[in-house]
Amino acid sequence: MGEHIAVEDATKVYSGTAKALDGVSLEVGQGTVLVLLGPSGSGKTTLLRCLAGIERLSSGRISIGGTVVAGGAVHLPPERRNLSMVFQDYALWPHLVARENVAFALKRHGLPRAERRRLAGEMLERVGLGRLGDRYPSELSGGEQQRVALARALVGDTGLVLCDEPLSSLDADLRERMRIEISSLVRLAGATTVYITHDQSEAFALADVVGVLERGKLVQLAIPEQVYAAPATPFVARFTGLAGELAVRVLGARRHGGTVEVEAVSRSSVRPLVARVGAHGLDGGDAVLMVRPTAVRLGAPEDTDNHLLGRVADVAFRGRGYEHAVELDCGTQISGVFAERRAGRREPVGLRLDTSGCIVFPAGAAATATIGGMHRSGNGSGAHTSGDLGARGGVAGPEHALALEAPEIANEVARWR
Ligand SMILES: Nc1ncnc2c1ncn2[C@@H]1O[C@H](COP(=O)(O)OP(=O)(O)O)[C@@H](O)[C@H]1O
Ligand SMILES: [Mg+2]
Repeated sequence: MGEHIAVEDATKVYSGTAKALDGVSLEVGQGTVLVLLGPSGSGKTTLLRCLAGIERLSSGRISIGGTVVAGGAVHLPPERRNLSMVFQDYALWPHLVARENVAFALKRHGLPRAERRRLAGEMLERVGLGRLGDRYPSELSGGEQQRVALARALVGDTGLVLCDEPLSSLDADLRERMRIEISSLVRLAGATTVYITHDQSEAFALADVVGVLERGKLVQLAIPEQVYAAPATPFVARFTGLAGELAVRVLGARRHGGTVEVEAVSRSSVRPLVARVGAHGLDGGDAVLMVRPTAVRLGAPEDTDNHLLGRVADVAFRGRGYEHAVELDCGTQISGVFAERRAGRREPVGLRLDTSGCIVFPAGAAATATIGGMHRSGNGSGAHTSGDLGARGGVAGPEHALALEAPEIANEVARWR
């Protein structure tokens, strides 16, 4: 059964560097899948290693299942924390066959050898490797090795499974299949899972709850739908997929429901639109509109409900339809604009923007939030969230990071679920 995890004000400073973790607090409910999302260097691995007991916290506290495992003078070693890990590089024993690799995880349980073999065989069946138990890691493909590693993590029935980018060395097609397998297997096992990735679509697909890390700080902790609809900061918005950004003028006062009328500062603007006010509020007339790809509709230039006009810069066939990059007259590009019909390159088009995926931040706040020095946008295709994402565990975090009570979000989330 999964354990409840509590991290309180966790800080980690490696000698001579900036804070790799900076006051991170979060709770993960029993059996919840928490995905930690952040760019390279944001502290994901550090947090996972502190949870595992491989690294020591500089300050703060971690408890697993109500037992303090790190904090003050306490530091339990990994083998006393009732957890298992899955790594990007699989970390299998090369001199043991698959079944022995899995059975090895049961050593400390004090079971007889035959019983360990039986349980390991069963778990290999469950990950679809029943017939390959006698192969050495070198005789298995990357995906098969990762399944062995997963079987090893799950066979011991630990209360906490930690995964450090387990899919990042697999190719795209296999990655998607393994993501589904991991998702269903950890939920079947009822294990509390902390899974880290830098891939927003993987995070949204897998998570009950997403935690976004930026330079060692947890900047948002919320269900995927909320991260998408109400990113806590411009950084979170950019990192979780934007079609584009536009400089806008705020036209009126904030309305009921947390929306505001804005107009793009661009020759391409043909009509004001209503956007949601982001978590930072607004501080005057100048703001930046961040647009989710799901909020943009492509139409003909003469349509009366257009907000913006532009020309198709590029079009990509995506199976279900086409994704367009549209260049506005001001030079700004809006990418990931989905349409079932193909609009030709250089064709004039109109864009209609839906309030649900248009978020405004004050210009100052937006200017300082960059990802590794680069603004990131595009790739909306993986960011759709729909359907049942599984049972939500109870997760709490710092107040600013968990504004679940915002009524407009609650309604939106209710609609999506
Ligand atoms: N063993 C280490 N010694 C010194 N600095 C480290 C060590 N491990 C990580 N760091 C630094 O801590 C920060 C966070 O790293 P890490 O937790 O690996 O990030 P992520 O997994 O998100 O890419 C980075 O600036 C990294 O350079
Ligand atoms: Mg890492």
